[in-house]
Amino acid sequence: EKGGFDWFMRKEIYEQPKAVADTLLGRHTDDGALTLDEIRISETELRNIAKIIIIAAGTSFYAGMVAKYAIEHWCRVPCEVELASEFRYRDPIVGPTTLVVAISQSGETADTLMAIRHAREQHARVLAICNTNGSTIPRESDAVIYTHAGPEIGVASTKGFTTQLAACYLLGLYLAQVKGTMYGDEIHAVVKELESLPPLMQQVLDNAQPVLDLAARLVDQPSVLFLGRHVGYPVALEGALKLKEIAYLHAEGFAAGELKHGPIAIIEPGMPVFVVVPPRGRDQLHDKVISNIQEIRARGARPIAIAEADDATVEEFSTTVIRLPKVSTILQPLVAVIPLQLFACELATVLGHDVDQPRNLAKSVTVE
Ligand code: M6R
Repeated sequence: EKGGFDWFMRKEIYEQPKAVADTLLGRHTDDGALTLDEIRISETELRNIAKIIIIAAGTSFYAGMVAKYAIEHWCRVPCEVELASEFRYRDPIVGPTTLVVAISQSGETADTLMAIRHAREQHARVLAICNTNGSTIPRESDAVIYTHAGPEIGVASTKGFTTQLAACYLLGLYLAQVKGTMYGDEIHAVVKELESLPPLMQQVLDNAQPVLDLAARLVDQPSVLFLGRHVGYPVALEGALKLKEIAYLHAEGFAAGELKHGPIAIIEPGMPVFVVVPPRGRDQLHDKVISNIQEIRARGARPIAIAEADDATVEEFSTTVIRLPKVSTILQPLVAVIPLQLFACELATVLGHDVDQPRNLAKSVTVE
């Protein structure tokens, strides 16, 4: 059942190219127009949506953070992301022109379920992104986009996350199509790039040895930091969460731009700091993250850069460089998260922990 792998988690990490390809399958017509047939909310209603609120917990929340970047960029609709456990307790502003997007792998998370019930009471429309057919959250939603990851057994979510990203991108593009905020050929180009990603994810898996070796070398570290910017920020948070969950290590993710506003004070000589480096582009994101790497190195810490293949700028100041294939900034989380998942899985294995059933955690959290 584990298909020759030591853990379900590792097997599920390796299943990601297929899981993402399956999630993208059959979602558009030959001329490139997206057809998300599970959406039972009329196009007129969708065009009138004034605000989107994404609600989720844990890893699904980080997928939601990535979705916000994509949705606002493509659809020009204000989009908030909120922890499900906070949502209904703060009297949120929700109404008939609010689209609440609930992201849940299991479809049974109590915090998320209670949040959508609250949203529906306020007459919001609810769309679920879910991996479990017929589970409670999609049953109580107006629309569903199912991810096709197959059953996820490991408590630490991996293929759940990347398929959620794929579904969020599809939703963003679909809304852009309905609202007319992107041209058909622009949408088509992004869909094509999305469809080209599973083989690139496979490349990351095939070239994983450096990250596995790194886990063996960092086994004595009390604490590991993760930095990222833009969509790399939720990836950094996810890398830290994976490490907390299964390696029981103190791990924290920060927005790289916040470093000088506080976190840099905890950087110590020898401390491993993973840095998700954005692709080089027209904006200054990339160069700013490179300066962060220099700052970390100047304090004697060990920057581990996760950067695209031919980016030589990371080499001078990083102690280790993990390479990624070239992809657009907004889609980079699909490949960038993989080394972090593998790192956590390997480190927890070396430490002798039960990777699939970490202490104190349950696969689905059905109490608030
Ligand atoms: O099933 P859900 O996506 O609603 O679960 C949400 C979180 O409980 C879940 O992502 C949790 O954080 C995982 N253990 C992360 O690996």
